[in-house]
Amino acid sequence: MTGGWPDHLFLVGCGNMAGQMLARWIACGLDPARVTVLRPSGRAVADGVTVVADYPAALPRGTTILLGMKPYQIAEVARALAPLCTADTPIMSILAGTTLNELRSRFAAATDIVRAMPNLPVGLGQGVVALFTDDRTSPAARSHIDALIAPLGLAEWMADEMLFNRVTALSGCGPAFLFRFVDALARAGEAIGIPADQAARMALATVQGAANMAAGAQVSPAALADQVASPGGMTREGLNILDADDRLLVLLTDTLAAARDRGEAMARGG
Ligand SMILES: NC(=O)c1ccc[n+]([C@@H]2O[C@H](COP(=O)([O-])OP(=O)(O)OC[C@H]3O[C@@H](n4cnc5c(N)ncnc54)[C@H](OP(=O)(O)O)[C@@H]3O)[C@@H](O)[C@H]2O)c1
Repeated sequence: MTGGWPDHLFLVGCGNMAGQMLARWIACGLDPARVTVLRPSGRAVADGVTVVADYPAALPRGTTILLGMKPYQIAEVARALAPLCTADTPIMSILAGTTLNELRSRFAAATDIVRAMPNLPVGLGQGVVALFTDDRTSPAARSHIDALIAPLGLAEWMADEMLFNRVTALSGCGPAFLFRFVDALARAGEAIGIPADQAARMALATVQGAANMAAGAQVSPAALADQVASPGGMTREGLNILDADDRLLVLLTDTLAAARDRGEAMARGG
């Protein structure tokens, strides 16, 4: 490791998600010359990054692997990649639904294997990355992964792999849910008479500013909402609608539960 970065990073697949992670790492100082991307198309990634369409004969010493292809490709990838791994090749997988046990059985020589579930804002350094591993992974490897994830945003180690699918429902799918909320706030503004383009701009800026404010506040978002709502005022009147019968809470719980259930069905092959 050099300055928190792996001596070499080997990405298998560099599409929407791994591409965002790599872009952020390079923006934060990872030397592109230390990166190799394997992608069947052979399409260029970023200046200085080596792109290959086939597996090399060996990996450079000190290589960390990021598995970033589609989950169903794991068998084919492991057949080619596992023989190149040694006990000191850390592997981080972002494959949804591929368990640590499955990764361990496919990469038997590797000791340090970590599952990660990132979300798309990692490209801005404002993502959320859930992490999971077991006791076989060394503390040094955990620290290495912590250092690699730090530029991407919030990292949360999960105590139980069972939580992975639920976390995906919250933070993985969360950006889409928030996009819907912003759109609904804008359309609600339009419904009460604000010109559509202004309502759209104001809804987005309100959500952005409020999220930043909540992130820097000393109190929870729930307490903040009450702090800014004086009794008998406009905000309180609006909150009364959101809060009635826990309307918003019920809606979001149903939303996350549906996403979680779909993830579990997909993991069973549904
Ligand atoms: N998208 C998300 O929000 C998100 C969030 C969390 C986790 N993930 C996980 O991230 C992984 C990738 O998702 P994605 O949305 O980034 O998919 P994607 O955009 O389709 O990217 C897939 C990548 O895999 C490469 N690839 C295709 N066939 C391959 C093969 N046989 N061997 C090695 N690489 C191959 C592709 O190469 P080319 O570039 O040459 O086509 C591409 O770079 C999935 O496992 C998913 O579960 C995604």
